[in-house]
Amino acid sequence: MNQLIIFDTTLRDGEQSPGASMTREEKVRIAKMLERMRVDVIEAGFPIASPGDFEAVRAVARVVRNSTVCGLARAADADIDRAGEALKEAAAGRIHTFIATSPIPDQVVERAVEAVRRARRWTDDVEFSAEDAGRSELDFLCRITEAVIKAGARTVNIPDTVGYNVPDQFAHTIRSLIERVPNADQAIFSVHCHNDLGLAVANSLAAVLAGARQVECTINGLGERAGNASLEEIVMTVRTRRDVFQLETGIDTTQIVPASRLVANITGFPVQPNKAIVGANAFAHESGIHQDGVLKHRETYEIMRAEDVGWNANRMVLGKHSGRNAFRTRLEELGVSFASEEELNSAFARFKELADKKHEIFDEDLQALVTDANLAAENERVKLLYLRVCSETGETPRAQVTLAVDGVEHNATADGGGPVDASFKAIDSILQTGTDLLLYSVNNITSGTDSQGEVTVRVAKGGRIVNGQGADTDIVIASAKAYVNALNKVLQPVERAHPQLL
Ligand code: KIV
Ligand code: ZN
Repeated sequence: MNQLIIFDTTLRDGEQSPGASMTREEKVRIAKMLERMRVDVIEAGFPIASPGDFEAVRAVARVVRNSTVCGLARAADADIDRAGEALKEAAAGRIHTFIATSPIPDQVVERAVEAVRRARRWTDDVEFSAEDAGRSELDFLCRITEAVIKAGARTVNIPDTVGYNVPDQFAHTIRSLIERVPNADQAIFSVHCHNDLGLAVANSLAAVLAGARQVECTINGLGERAGNASLEEIVMTVRTRRDVFQLETGIDTTQIVPASRLVANITGFPVQPNKAIVGANAFAHESGIHQDGVLKHRETYEIMRAEDVGWNANRMVLGKHSGRNAFRTRLEELGVSFASEEELNSAFARFKELADKKHEIFDEDLQALVTDANLAAENERVKLLYLRVCSETGETPRAQVTLAVDGVEHNATADGGGPVDASFKAIDSILQTGTDLLLYSVNNITSGTDSQGEVTVRVAKGGRIVNGQGADTDIVIASAKAYVNALNKVLQPVERAHPQLL
């Protein structure tokens, strides 16, 4: 086996990051992007978690044709049947069933075996995970692994659920399992590492060297707490250090940066500039000596080429004179389709407005345009109708805002430390939601001062955390849109409650 299977769990474990919830449409967009990237397995969600999760997995299973679509299920009949239902229309569907460790090992093994057997009634492609395996007794792991393979699990996943392992130790666990379990040759060994100590990628790669042939990972390393192993780092390490790994992945690496941007844009989790592979500075050689070196002998300093991971995908795609067809075609290539002519027309009108303000329109602008419209359209009780900000040297900035709340117009004026602060205060004085602002960040979507600003705000209320996003060539308006988007989410009833994984 010289193939490494890439199992992406951005839509499931990634989504479990507080504030990273995605709608069904957003999941479908990301899934199509993952399929274009040729990810082997896309874990689309946890169907029993909520009706919304079920529908999202079903929608992904319907549209994805070239990757396996996977649904997560605890080792309980109802969970497994719900996952099986959600995956019915998949071209290739996998049920991933997991069990938490417990002080009574016999019962755990028995339940795990029953769960795998039940899942096999729905599909031949069954994966089993023993949660927190990274801290479990090796003898017990050998025993449960042998039993679930016998019951029909084709993939056995070893999660380091709390990110506690270190590479040598984790590699030892994988190597020992492969050596000691008598039927180990009948299954693929997989790893799923969390990044609490910053070791998720290192642990995953050590496990690969010890014989694991599937890695579970996420775009941008999104995931619970400190996240999961990052897909881009795993894929590019295996590719760049083929001499060490002697393995191939099926990934089209030129889709990595576009996928990273799409996930950051949809979830509102921006990528740090110095993040490997996908950070804005990942290929920027600042020091004079390096720049000189790069120009003379590119390969001396650049172990990878920026274009191989899709950095040059940032090309001008459309402009002021582009027609409706070109607009629709490019968005379809990006995985966005329109439910009706009316939807297309309104998106096209927004595109024309943007093209008036901004000369060159890039893929990232189109993504932001669609995300912004989706955000505005979904479940909104509050609409931003008008914003005027006055900001000048020596004067206190003042914002005047008009919101429609459940269809009724409200006006407010507020002063603030800056134009964004004044706008948020004016919005607060109308909505009085009592939320705390946890994060405010602005990113330019493309380069240049005419770029759209993409704003993320994170707010908390009563232990619930939500993100809001907004994009506009005017960053104060983008900020107000993002704030209103977050507050709209706060005003919604809580729909999702993920069953505890630990
Ligand atoms: O971290 C974990 O243990 C998980 C399992 C469900 C695989 O996410
Ligand atoms: Zn996990």
